[in-house]
Amino acid sequence: MKVAVIGGGTMGGTLVKSILRARLASKNDIVVSDISHDRRELIKKRYGVAVTDNNAEAVHRADAVILAVKPQEMPGVLSRLSAHLASQLIISIAAGISLETISQVLKQNALVRAMPNTPAQVGKGMTVWTSSGELSSEKHDMARLILASMGEEMYLKDERYLDMATAVSGSGPAYVFLFIEALIDAGVHIGLTRDVAQKLVIETVAGSAEAMKKMSRHPAELRNMVTSPGGTTAEALLRLECGGLRSLVINAVVAAYEKAQSLGTKKIG
Ligand SMILES: NC(=O)c1ccc[n+]([C@@H]2O[C@H](COP(=O)([O-])OP(=O)(O)OC[C@H]3O[C@@H](n4cnc5c(N)ncnc54)[C@H](OP(=O)(O)O)[C@@H]3O)[C@@H](O)[C@H]2O)c1
Repeated sequence: MKVAVIGGGTMGGTLVKSILRARLASKNDIVVSDISHDRRELIKKRYGVAVTDNNAEAVHRADAVILAVKPQEMPGVLSRLSAHLASQLIISIAAGISLETISQVLKQNALVRAMPNTPAQVGKGMTVWTSSGELSSEKHDMARLILASMGEEMYLKDERYLDMATAVSGSGPAYVFLFIEALIDAGVHIGLTRDVAQKLVIETVAGSAEAMKKMSRHPAELRNMVTSPGGTTAEALLRLECGGLRSLVINAVVAAYEKAQSLGTKKIG
């Protein structure tokens, strides 16, 4: 398949890498369009694919077009591309931009809206996606292949879940990295070297996620297994609950969700 990626930044680059790794397209069949000269040079050097600064030229012969520019850039990109799109599969990964908004500008309905996340950089992404009703089964399969190249994918028929997924799994790695950073700093604070603290924390976070995946138990049950009566873990958990960790996380995710929704209400035309 021939793929055009509009916006060769963090996620655009990750998509190129994933598509190549999954052998869905060869280097010769991928073109990345980006306004930044430095980005284009980086993408060309790193992946050996064609680059251009002309979005219209990039989509010309593509079977699939991936829109990977910032939500704020989407209005301009969409309106300038509308005359150049025919029957290509369009996949937008822009946070908050609805299928309806995109179809109003592009005047076509073979649309997919997806929300990946950055662990896709190492093939461990979580992508939630939806599509317009008119998407053919061939294009649906093509979209699934592209998105699955980044890791796990989950199709949800109801688009309203996309803004929720943006707040949970799209932004989620940032919350986890903040927690990881804090736990490493805590280890250093009590006397571990930074290298040792980092190794302990990474393996603890990865191991806990893996255990939850494999054991299919409620997180509270798994937490109780670590928490001996009157022990060290109970002492630490009390401080985390007193500090409001649980409500802080919920409030943070609600704020991200509201932000995703507000991005979608901006007019494109
Ligand atoms: N990062 C994440 O964790 C994540 C997760 C899920 C979804 N997303 C979505 O993915 C999209 C891209 O995010 P990102 O983090 O990859 O952003 P990014 O790193 O800023 O990449 C966007 C790239 O597009 C370029 N660009 C700007 N205007 C353009 C135009 N008119 N035509 C072609 N290229 C243009 C930018 O160049 P300049 O830098 O020169 O402007 C930049 O190189 C966003 O819509 C975001 O909501 C991101």
